[in-house]
Amino acid sequence: MHSMAVFLVLLHFTATLAAGEPATTTLKVTPATLTGSNRSITIQWSNLPSPSPLDYVAVYSPPSSGDLDYLGFLFLNGSASWATGAGSLTLPRLPNLRAPYQFRLFRWPPGERSRNPRLDQDGDPLPDARRRVAVSGEVSFEAAAAARPAQVHLAFADAPDEMRVVFVCGDTGARAVRYGPAGPREEWEDAATEARTYERRHMCGYPANDSVGWRHPGFVFDGVMKGLQPGRRYHYKVGSDSLGWSETYSFISRDIEANETIAFLFGDLGTYVPYNTYFRTPYESLSTVRWILRDLEVLGDKAAFISHIGDISYAKGYAWLWDHFFEQIEPIASRTPYHVCIGNHEYDWPSQPWKPSWAANIYNGKDGGGECGVPYSIKFRMPGK
Ligand SMILES: *[C@@H]1O[C@H](CO)[C@@H](O)[C@H](O)[C@H]1NC(C)=O
Ligand SMILES: *[C@@H]1O[C@H](CO)[C@@H](O)[C@H](O)[C@H]1NC(C)=O
Ligand SMILES: *[C@@H]1O[C@H](CO)[C@@H](O)[C@H](O)[C@H]1NC(C)=O
Ligand SMILES: *[C@@H]1O[C@H](CO)[C@@H](O)[C@H](O)[C@H]1NC(C)=O
Repeated sequence: MHSMAVFLVLLHFTATLAAGEPATTTLKVTPATLTGSNRSITIQWSNLPSPSPLDYVAVYSPPSSGDLDYLGFLFLNGSASWATGAGSLTLPRLPNLRAPYQFRLFRWPPGERSRNPRLDQDGDPLPDARRRVAVSGEVSFEAAAAARPAQVHLAFADAPDEMRVVFVCGDTGARAVRYGPAGPREEWEDAATEARTYERRHMCGYPANDSVGWRHPGFVFDGVMKGLQPGRRYHYKVGSDSLGWSETYSFISRDIEANETIAFLFGDLGTYVPYNTYFRTPYESLSTVRWILRDLEVLGDKAAFISHIGDISYAKGYAWLWDHFFEQIEPIASRTPYHVCIGNHEYDWPSQPWKPSWAANIYNGKDGGGECGVPYSIKFRMPGK
């Protein structure tokens, strides 16, 4: 019986090949478990018949997303061997979106018009996710990495001897800020935090309130370190003993008696994502972050602060771009207070009372992508508010 079954399987296999039926296209993404948001991800495919330079793999999170609700996509021709029907692509990192990722491979035959009515920044149609041929397994953050606080950023609070720290978790479990001056850790104290969030119904329009743009933002935790001596280096971490701690960061406390003020003032930063999305994301924003970090290194123990004056992440209703943004600025914002004020790309919408006339002409008054300032107001908390 056993050997007969093997014989039949072999016979079937041979017959299939002889009939010229193509082998199934495979899509494999590794690692399946991420231990942090700085891990590189490899996407491999094989057995793709008659490859086209327009074939693409789309990125999803959560895996329950519809085919058209991709976060973005990569053309397979980014791999030198794409024309053989097999190849691999690498993503340098993916932020923790508090849900697993999944990847799907689609055909786009040469000359075929996309049925997607949405256009990219050049006016070209986005992929229509119609000819799906393979789906990957899920890529998830391991439990410890998923619970670890992310997107840590500092800001001045109202009193000069305070410093606020804000961070994101996927759950509302209690978290603290544990902080103290350099020296024995026994002297560190804990500041309590409170968590807040927002829901899809708080968005005022498309794409922010639509399945294409909406992703749950997680919970934004906020705690204030108090009684800080001026101009001194403090260390801190955020989290809890049961759910895990962030790495330990440090900053120079505010000194209102200081004779010099060192500030980085700029606007319009944006964020970069390592795949094509609904519009171009600026690669240059990575250089800006590197330059600021280089200058902070040179400043050493001198206090400084950041003023990012409007047009912050350019998420414009595509929620996960905010996650990319906060991951991108974390090396700066976890060590230097990072201040913002709102720009038209966080706020402007026809139903909003504040309307710059120039934005009405350029963007139809829809430059906030339906966010109406809500993600901005929850994700940051500025002094004097
Ligand atoms: C990722 O970040 C962690 C600290 O959060 C660090 O220990 C590790 O070396 C980094 N890994 C890579 C591949 O950069
Ligand atoms: C891959 O195809 C896309 C879409 O046609 C094109 O824009 C891009 O230049 C191609 N890239 C390479 C490396 O050939
Ligand atoms: C998004 O908001 C617009 C404007 O209020 C509304 O017409 C539309 O139905 C909303 N979409 C969803 C999916 O709720
Ligand atoms: C600021 O300058 C004044 C006058 O030179 C000096 O007395 C004071 O100590 C300086 N303060 C700080 C914090 O460096």
